[in-house]
Amino acid sequence: MTDQTKPVPPQADKSRVLIFDTTLRDGEQSPGATMTHNEKLEIAELLDEMGVDIIEAGFPIASEGDFEAVTEIAQRAKSSVICGLARANFKDIDRCWEAVKHAKSPRIHTFIGTSPLHRAIPNLDMDEMAERIHDTVTHARNLCDNVQWSPMDATRTETDYLKRVVEIAIKAGATTINIPDTVGYTAPRESADIIRMLIESVPGADEVVFATHCHNDLGMATANALAAVEGGARQIECTINGLGERAGNTALEEVVMALKVRHDIMPYHTGVDATKIMHISRRVATVSGFAVQYNKAIVGKNAFAHESGIHQDGMLKNAETFEIMRPEDVGLSETSIVMGKHSGRAALRAKLKELGYELADNQLNDVFVRFKALADRKKEVFEDDLIALMRDYTGQDVEEHLEIKFLRVICGTEAPQSADLTIRVGEEDRQITAQGDGPVDAVFNAVKEAFPHGARLNVYQVHAVTEGTDAQATVSVRMEEDGRIVTGEAADTDTVVASAKAYVKALNRLLVRRQKSDPDADVKTVSYKDAG
Ligand code: KIV
Ligand code: ZN
Repeated sequence: MTDQTKPVPPQADKSRVLIFDTTLRDGEQSPGATMTHNEKLEIAELLDEMGVDIIEAGFPIASEGDFEAVTEIAQRAKSSVICGLARANFKDIDRCWEAVKHAKSPRIHTFIGTSPLHRAIPNLDMDEMAERIHDTVTHARNLCDNVQWSPMDATRTETDYLKRVVEIAIKAGATTINIPDTVGYTAPRESADIIRMLIESVPGADEVVFATHCHNDLGMATANALAAVEGGARQIECTINGLGERAGNTALEEVVMALKVRHDIMPYHTGVDATKIMHISRRVATVSGFAVQYNKAIVGKNAFAHESGIHQDGMLKNAETFEIMRPEDVGLSETSIVMGKHSGRAALRAKLKELGYELADNQLNDVFVRFKALADRKKEVFEDDLIALMRDYTGQDVEEHLEIKFLRVICGTEAPQSADLTIRVGEEDRQITAQGDGPVDAVFNAVKEAFPHGARLNVYQVHAVTEGTDAQATVSVRMEEDGRIVTGEAADTDTVVASAKAYVKALNRLLVRRQKSDPDADVKTVSYKDAG
């Protein structure tokens, strides 16, 4: 066994709440939120730096890609405990251990559905399931001295049976007991009561950390998690931006800030540096392809915006009139200082650093060229423009098999709209002219003619980055081919160009996904599975 860090036992510091982030596991499970290997490494590094106690880095047996990502995150992590998920069988647990064992502080998280509906799936009766829990937790504990166990769908499990299985898991060596509200069914009072009841009635409960894992189907995930803390839980499982299956998970930024702002009535603290919230929120939005809704608490674009005259007047006199926290508390700089075409490299570097991007010299050179091109087309470059530019730049971690070289579109009231496109496909430049129902359709048809594929466009969204007619547009697309879902995002002052770049980015990612699921196939050829 390695030198492993034990979780903080609840009795050591009763007011300390551990933050367990599952953006890379439960968050990534959300259809369409798939991240690349490098994106996962980047997010894990940001989570580690911001003081997240435990990072659930993936589900190692789910795929080779997940295994590799968890392994590398484990090797690189500096302070966070690195956790992997495993079902209740030895094969899953062994595979999980193979990946997390490289961490300074590894954790195995094993789970089984304990509610009547979930027991029916493996067709185990109560006694058989109890035995399986005993055997698998014992096995995990023989490999790793930091073991988390979860009775999936705990909030719909019979109380007596829940008590029984929690006791078995504790006796078998689990060090954290997580109580998942898998389908977002519970409500705050019940959430607190379940944890309190378990702590008061299960022998050995005071020796372990109780965790809460809430889904947001009824919009109560944050409230339920905070209530669970009042009931005695000392670990909150959450994701950045509340990413996750269906309506998502408890949002990390919400619980962290709620515990800070209302410390008077919830006297608990976390180890998270809240000033890093905005940056990681933006990165997760970009790499997952799940944009943050404008009115999302803490991290939404409007979370600190005051539109109405009465609010603005109050804010100018005293910011506390309408603000319960300051933008800078979550890493949002107060001003959106404008840059322009006369701004130099040093100013750009300083501004990007303020926004959370630290660039090496060669990266700064690349970004500076892009910044100058943007500043030539736009009078003023705002913070949001720079963020969009950086999203574009950092989103290029995937090999660019396809690249737009030239695009001219004819559009207007007279149909048909048409696109003249030169696109590099591998080593070859292809020139295509195509028509469509509107300029974007014409461009997508041209790309498809140059590179036939069978992917379906599921989502196409355009957002203005800032205001004004010279504003950049950010375009997001989501595409699907044989169950593989990919996203692409790009920004440009020309909406059609941004659309073309986003579409091509998604296709480049699709090639990576094809290769992963079909390693021996020539995934870049036109005839791949009769594409097109
Ligand atoms: O929601 C859930 O039950 C889960 C478990 C795997 C912990 O994500
Ligand atoms: Zn979950």
